[in-house]
Amino acid sequence: MNDVDYLRISLIDRCNFRCTYCMPEGSEIDYIHSANMLTNRELVSIVQEVFIPLGFSKFRLTGGEPLLRKELVNLVGAIANLTGVQDLSMTTNGFLLAHLAKPLYEAGLRRINISLDSLDRDVFRQITGRNLWQQVWDGILAAHAVGFAPLKLNVVVVPEVNDHEILNLAALSIDRDWHIRFIEFMPIGNDRLFSHKGWVDSADLRQRISDRYGLVPSNCKGNGPADVFQIPNAQGTLGFISQMSECFCDRCNRVRLSADGLLRPCLLNETGQIDLKTALREGKSFAELRMMVRELLNLKAEINFKERDRGTGDQKSYFRTMSQIGG
Ligand code: GTP
Ligand code: 5AD
Ligand code: SF4
Repeated sequence: MNDVDYLRISLIDRCNFRCTYCMPEGSEIDYIHSANMLTNRELVSIVQEVFIPLGFSKFRLTGGEPLLRKELVNLVGAIANLTGVQDLSMTTNGFLLAHLAKPLYEAGLRRINISLDSLDRDVFRQITGRNLWQQVWDGILAAHAVGFAPLKLNVVVVPEVNDHEILNLAALSIDRDWHIRFIEFMPIGNDRLFSHKGWVDSADLRQRISDRYGLVPSNCKGNGPADVFQIPNAQGTLGFISQMSECFCDRCNRVRLSADGLLRPCLLNETGQIDLKTALREGKSFAELRMMVRELLNLKAEINFKERDRGTGDQKSYFRTMSQIGG
């Protein structure tokens, strides 16, 4: 097991998109009540007094859609200014980014991963439930223009929906220093779509891309689960996140904090989850909170979570959407 030094913080469980693989239109989601959300002040103090002293240095803000969080720019500024925060990043659907890219960069955010499942407006609308391709594209260009680097674009590959576009999406990396990442569709969130369509193996995608453009391993590794390649002489890279065909649990370096303050050891497993918000509100000291997190980290190291092994995972986790867990 790797050292765990990466906290993914979900800022909100709501989203302004309705991606078919995550929270399709009409899905009934039990949203977190506002009184149960960690406040900005609580969140910053938890990062500063609990996670940084435990050696965490990488923090990613996720959702739902993190750009919907109130007072976001102030929150980003407060976290970015903490001594010990070496890498602050965000994963977003990009819709509000055209306006927010500059203030977020100025507040200290440096890395951003944006979902872009299609270059075709109709397919984009079909996947996200929103006719907003242009706004997202403008957001991506704005993020690039203000200096976010490396800029990563996330593509969840759904058979018969967008897998015919992978060559065009891969080609974005040829003339731009962008990192395009193809993510195997996981049975989380919209399980019905998954059982109907299944997923596309990263090895197949690599083969198709390699047949067309050639593909070589890249030295440019991230912090995460992606296997990184490059089209020869391309400016950017291609990442493959293969949670269905591979198990990368043994190199997992992260835990996840939900918008209501629950800390979970694994995307797909709640074993040992702790409630930091309630502990804080009940008046527990930061030393006690650190002790609770240390115990969870020890448990994570002992249990070899196998994400694909539904038998040993907590079944409930599979009925949560990515927007509730925080990607
Ligand atoms: P960096 O490498 O730091 O840029 O981040 P990342 O790739 O981990 O972050 P991002 O939020 O862009 O994650 C992309 C996708 O990777 C997620 O939507 C998940 O599908 C997948 N992923 C990230 N972390 C995990 C994990 O711990 N387990 C599994 N199964 N999938 C993960
Ligand atoms: N399988 C794989 N990735 C998913 N995401 C959301 N739901 C799924 C799923 N079922 C991805 C989004 C985004 C990140 C937050 O999570 O595309 O990149
Ligand atoms: Fe929203 Fe992201 Fe889920 Fe799409 S994947 S509905 S953008 S939280």
